[in-house]
Amino acid sequence: MSKQHTLLMPLDMHLHLRDGVMLETVAPLTSYTFSGALIMPNLVPPVTSKDAVIAYKERVMAAVGVEAADPELDLVNSDYFEPYMTLFYQNYDKEFLEDVADEITSLKLYPAGITTNSEGGVSSFDLDTMRPTLQAMSDLEIPLCVHGETDGFVMDREAEFMSIYELLASNFPDLKIIMEHITTKVAVDMLDEYPNLYATITLHHLLITLDDVAGGMLKPHLFCKPIAKRPEDREALLKVALDGHPKVMFGSDSAPHPQHKKESCGCAAGVFTAPIALQSLCELFDSHGKLDNLQSFVSDNAQRIYGICPEFKEIVLSDEPFTVPEKYGNVVPMYAGETIGWSIESVE
Ligand code: DOR
Ligand code: ZN
Repeated sequence: MSKQHTLLMPLDMHLHLRDGVMLETVAPLTSYTFSGALIMPNLVPPVTSKDAVIAYKERVMAAVGVEAADPELDLVNSDYFEPYMTLFYQNYDKEFLEDVADEITSLKLYPAGITTNSEGGVSSFDLDTMRPTLQAMSDLEIPLCVHGETDGFVMDREAEFMSIYELLASNFPDLKIIMEHITTKVAVDMLDEYPNLYATITLHHLLITLDDVAGGMLKPHLFCKPIAKRPEDREALLKVALDGHPKVMFGSDSAPHPQHKKESCGCAAGVFTAPIALQSLCELFDSHGKLDNLQSFVSDNAQRIYGICPEFKEIVLSDEPFTVPEKYGNVVPMYAGETIGWSIESVE
């Protein structure tokens, strides 16, 4: 008999949906199984105004009602999906933030040029320049999500960023700061140092190390920022995720790029995991005997940390095999063509 596992109101607290045709292709893949997701603002141009937030949310909602690229998937049009919107961090004044606060769930800070469409990000972490914005966010209780990498040596970028997290966390003790897509043991250890620091962890960083990306033939579909790290880093991430650590949330960082931008000279960073996220998480947690902690990781912790109450949604998964499609539209998912151990049984 197959084993089943039920998840309630899954949340993906770090998701790239893009825009246009790509948005229409990928949004239904998340809205099918998740109650909501934190939508990243690194569009071209980035989402930096209230009008842009509202307009993008409308486009996301419209895309959720659009049929998926692969009709065989038989995706339902879900009424039960909340796009939690983010604003691209720049130095904003308090009046602006007060005005936009009801439309957003957080601000997302990118160091300038560190990853896809981040050129308009922060070029210097000068506290005097940033203080009015960060203090206003703290006063208004708007969390700060951070892509924490310096422009140093690629394997050291996240570790080098820890001093900036310390600076931010100690100067703004009431500001909730989320270390996005952490990939290192030092970042895991930092969680316990400051009460106002939290983290998201991706699926792919729980599954792979740099060896999987570049240890043999180069795997462009596993290339992302931050780059996957060492086995001991992955072990540290696994431990807190599998334990359902209360400050750690699932954020897929599912980041679709067209196939020709990945399989090319100058491969774009991003792993597309949206269509396999819950199935693979079940397989992973089950293989460690930790299925009971998955609910905390994929929903309860995020609800508590962000103070959000998603619409009811119940996903039943089972340990029946699922062969991952080669492509969704022109995007190649992680594990394309391979069979994973768990599948979606029903969504209500
Ligand atoms: O791999 C990544 N892809 N990392 C990021 O930080 C951005 C993302 C994207 O937008 O493609
Ligand atoms: Zn991202």
